[in-house]
Amino acid sequence: MQELYIKVPGTTDTSYKITIGSGLLPSVWPAVEAGFPKARLFLITDANIVAAGHLDTLLQGRDVPSYVIRPAGEPSKNIGTVVAIVEAMEKAYLGRDTAVLALGGGTVGDIGGFAAAIFKRGVPVVQIPTTTLAQADSAIGGKTGVDSSVSKNAFGAFWHPTAVFIDVAALRTLDKRQYRAGLVESVKHGLIASEEYFEFLERNLDAILARDPGVLETLASYNCAIKGRVVEEDPLEKNQRRILNYGHTIGHAVEAASDYTLLHGEAIAIGIIAAGLIEAELGLAEPGRLERVRTVLEKLGVPVKLPPNLAEDRLMDVMKHDKKAVDRWPRFVLLDRLGQVHQKDGQYAVPVSREIVEKVLEKLEG
Ligand code: GLY
Repeated sequence: MQELYIKVPGTTDTSYKITIGSGLLPSVWPAVEAGFPKARLFLITDANIVAAGHLDTLLQGRDVPSYVIRPAGEPSKNIGTVVAIVEAMEKAYLGRDTAVLALGGGTVGDIGGFAAAIFKRGVPVVQIPTTTLAQADSAIGGKTGVDSSVSKNAFGAFWHPTAVFIDVAALRTLDKRQYRAGLVESVKHGLIASEEYFEFLERNLDAILARDPGVLETLASYNCAIKGRVVEEDPLEKNQRRILNYGHTIGHAVEAASDYTLLHGEAIAIGIIAAGLIEAELGLAEPGRLERVRTVLEKLGVPVKLPPNLAEDRLMDVMKHDKKAVDRWPRFVLLDRLGQVHQKDGQYAVPVSREIVEKVLEKLEG
């Protein structure tokens, strides 16, 4: 078992603990009860987690007030679900002495964190992520929210967890495609922050794909340390936190243009290759770097080319709406070298001409 602490932004001496282990779930409830001796606990999870048996493993026969999101996944990530959760909490006579536990993947963490942020003006949330994506990325850093009918995460809040429990044994039941796609955020962390971590990933891919618990614990601690450090420096994404969006400018556009038939991590894999091709156009490439990245992604079995028949005008349109867009053209996070992000005028998200982006998209066609 490993423990690390992330400083809570806006405070001088408060931090939250991330506990990483294999087979941790049965001990989480007593640990939360001990951490919140006066609180009443409310659990939020989804139908997939119930079906996978993780809810039973967590509760060990306890009968607790809870809300199960149905159906699981993005279709339920809307304000209607948050309203239903808040009303379920009210019907259970819960008050400001509540602590919320969010057990599940990124969607549960985002919804549960947001419900906790707005219930009675905010109650603590404990994140218990169960997917490769949530354990590497979304459970840490305090971004919570739900989609509107127009855009993703339109309703949201920065609401940092009070504790995070990462049980890598929970990954055993994750379906293969989700498991592999979620690992792309780990590759991203190596690329933006740590050559040592990228090399660890290269060396241990077989064990990672075999879901070896020891290797997965090491993976989780690299991810949490890297993401935690970035979020501590720039919690509100004024500049440095943007490095976590490496591969996401084109990746998000590809995800949307595919009508979400590509998983987030799959689209980000294509976006990471796109960023590498842009780096080559701008003279930022190191010899062999892009090939190493491509090899890792190919071994993970995620796409490294655009899917056929992707609507390119839709892709360009989504990029114009990117949150980093200036004058309707996005900024890009690029690497100087493996483990180090390029900066221009002190900014981590930099302009790239439309011509270069179009050229790169052509190269990415399958
Ligand atoms: N997933 C990117 C961030 O948390 O900033």
